[in-house]
Amino acid sequence: MSEEAGFGGEPALGGPLERPGPLTMSGYRPRLVESDIANALDRVGAVLIDGARACGKTWTGRRFARSEARLDDPATMLLAEAAPEAVLAGGVPRLLDEWQHAPTLWNRVRRECDDRARPGQFILTGSATPADDITRHSGMGRIARVRMRPMSLLESGHSGGEVSIGALLDGQAAAALPRSGATLSDVASCICAGGWPANLGVSEADAGRTIGDYVNEAARVEVADAVGVRHQPEALLRLMRSVARNVSTEANVTGLAADAGGETPLARGTATAYLRALERIFVVETLPAWSVQMRSRATLRKTPKVHFVDPSLATSALRATPRRLLADPETLGLLFESLVVRDLRVYSQSQTGSVYHYRDNVGLEADAIVERNDGAWLAVEAKLSPSPKSVDTAAASLLRLRDKVAQRRAADLTALLVVTSTGAAYRRKDGVQVAPITALGP
Ligand SMILES: Nc1ncnc2c1ncn2[C@@H]1O[C@H](COP(=O)(O)OP(=O)(O)OP(=O)(O)O)[C@@H](O)[C@H]1O
Ligand SMILES: [Mg+2]
Repeated sequence: MSEEAGFGGEPALGGPLERPGPLTMSGYRPRLVESDIANALDRVGAVLIDGARACGKTWTGRRFARSEARLDDPATMLLAEAAPEAVLAGGVPRLLDEWQHAPTLWNRVRRECDDRARPGQFILTGSATPADDITRHSGMGRIARVRMRPMSLLESGHSGGEVSIGALLDGQAAAALPRSGATLSDVASCICAGGWPANLGVSEADAGRTIGDYVNEAARVEVADAVGVRHQPEALLRLMRSVARNVSTEANVTGLAADAGGETPLARGTATAYLRALERIFVVETLPAWSVQMRSRATLRKTPKVHFVDPSLATSALRATPRRLLADPETLGLLFESLVVRDLRVYSQSQTGSVYHYRDNVGLEADAIVERNDGAWLAVEAKLSPSPKSVDTAAASLLRLRDKVAQRRAADLTALLVVTSTGAAYRRKDGVQVAPITALGP
């Protein structure tokens, strides 16, 4: 994307917080979400980029912005109350960074978009959904929402991206690739380091410390700051550990609360409030169950699966290191599944795809279903081991799922995919596609 793109095409208008020309950051790595932002800026007056703290919202917002106001700056926050028009004035698109510190801006932005009647005026970024969630019920048609997640392996440089989720959804066969050079140990390191752009090129120990601070900060400060929940940080940390132990499972709130342990057991209501708060600050992102019409009378389970927005948050809460994970294949398997889900979410986002999980009452499951707006869908099993036995099991399960889905939806099925941690990419005789996570891309 060119830095001179100038969405909305307005020259800089001048203003107190103005910066000349597009804002640049050295060492910026392209993000997949940029296409969604560019598209939204072409269509509507304002774009809200929301997502977990430190996932890269400000830097990516700046790629498009011609001027900015930082609402986490106390002086700017005051100005937003006293003279909001001054905060909104400036070259467009104008970045309103951490807008949630001045929530009254939301309605001002909406009105300003109506008055200007041109697309690409504002970019808002925020790492928390405000408690009274004004963003959900107002702003339709004027403010588009773009979710930003931590970097996928493609964005952090750990995937070649040869096996395209978009192409698979189009029904194309993926390219065959020789064994990837990545080892299981490399994948365990990726799980622990996570997709935090500030950790790129940082030592494993330092990255681990930063993520540990992140988890603590989320439990102690962010939840309260962002959503006003009065809470006990220790209890919240216990719940985060419980979520970490149960990542990729269908553990419900009662189970998570019970598993949180501690001297005083966590009440169900408290656990529910804490989980909701963790979702509001984008630390936890549940994976909904897929709803589809079945051929048989099998009933689908509706419980979502719990995932952190990035598997490194789980490893940090568990105090796991790559070496410890390699000695505990069961935990590593669940965290690998969580890594696959994170990346599938990023890769399918620009394809208008959503990710779900599947499980029915007779125990058949698929770790992920990617479904595109037009109905095309593919089913995924995540398997740590690329061994023929392990892939056979996953493929058999995917084929069973295909045969269970009602005829009408079966016609929209474009691929069955086994994602392994390492190994080669190939198509099996039964049509099931196999690919290591280090080959996936959008
Ligand atoms: N695309 C990128 N390429 C390389 N480094 C990046 C990129 N995006 C962000 N970074 C690095 O990660 C850090 C955090 O990014 P940024 O400030 O954009 O995140 P954020 O989501 O706005 O965080 P917060 O929620 O705390 O405001 C940056 O200071 C920069 O060092
Ligand atoms: Mg920011």
